Amino acid sequence: MKRITLIKGDGIGPEISEAVLKIIDSSGVSIDWDVQTAGADVIAEEQTPLPDRVIKSVMENGVALKSPVTTPIGKGFRSVNVQLRKELDLYANLRPCYNLPGIKTRYDNVDIVVVRENTEDLYAGIERQIDDDTAESIKRITRAASTRIAEFAFNYALKNNRKEVCVVTKANICKLSDGLFLNCARETAERFPQIRFREILVDNCCMQLVQNPNQFDVLLLPNLYGDIVSDLCAGLIGGLGIAQGANIGEDCAVFEPVHGSAPDIAGQNKANPTAMLMSAIEMLNYIGANEAAFKIKTALFETLRAGIKTADLGGESSCSGFADEIIKRLRCII
Ligand code: NAI
Repeated sequence: MKRITLIKGDGIGPEISEAVLKIIDSSGVSIDWDVQTAGADVIAEEQTPLPDRVIKSVMENGVALKSPVTTPIGKGFRSVNVQLRKELDLYANLRPCYNLPGIKTRYDNVDIVVVRENTEDLYAGIERQIDDDTAESIKRITRAASTRIAEFAFNYALKNNRKEVCVVTKANICKLSDGLFLNCARETAERFPQIRFREILVDNCCMQLVQNPNQFDVLLLPNLYGDIVSDLCAGLIGGLGIAQGANIGEDCAVFEPVHGSAPDIAGQNKANPTAMLMSAIEMLNYIGANEAAFKIKTALFETLRAGIKTADLGGESSCSGFADEIIKRLRCII
């Protein structure tokens, strides 16, 4: 039986985790969940929001499914999510973004894969207070990390039959840092002549995404732009409630939705578990449980096609009610 680390997170995390576990359990796949807690709730007892036991568990199991963890805004401890990615060297943040059935949006046939560098840039956490009125953050970009993520994007494109990789930077302004990221992408592109290569500035990219998203295939971005642009892409397909993600390294992978802990709707059984479920489906594919992954995806799509939706998509289902509808359809497929 495959052992997988489960981080239930906080905010809407426990609700969507429970819904997704119930669905996975009903698919017949056997998983030994190694449940680990992290975030604000563990600080009092363990003096850190990310205890070593969590890192150790993911390293031992090689795979984790993770719900969002709250990060205090403008103060307090460093993001558990950023720290986890850094400690485990989960250098590639993969966020596929495509239309799901039954969810009407402005554009059809959106099919974009965001590949975001996950370990450096402004997320390195190198900040200092100069005086009461001045603060600095260092935007750190290295050749090693930029080449590694560019190679990941091109290899992903090759393996998944994608046609183009488009690198997104602000190299006209951040000439050294984004310039280095861009040059590494250019050099890598030369080794992948089968894949088209394109360059775009991040501001223009955002405008083009909103006006004509169908022109994009694989987007390759440094950490900060990747974070922002992937939320924009989520908006194109119906919002954060359905946007899946994965953090991938050489030795392990952590699957998690793009969204955060949504404190505004936490504890109300209102959250959409789809983003977490889509991330879990990719996790099942990753561990080779392809049949279960396929059945769950089919049941999810049938549910959405039947017009059953949570409130974020204009529906009336609760989080648990939506999961029950998926399970009902899953039982017919099995
Ligand atoms: P958020 O993603 O939590 O919420 C943004 C908006 O989307 C809210 O209106 C929320 O209700 C809605 N939303 C998000 N997920 C939803 C779902 N599954 N179903 C229905 N509606 C959903 O972003 P926000 O408010 O900026 O951040 C809240 C907290 O989450 C912060 O502490 C932030 O640091 C943390 N965060 C954690 C992440 C992670 O654990 N990987 C990622 C992003 C944010």
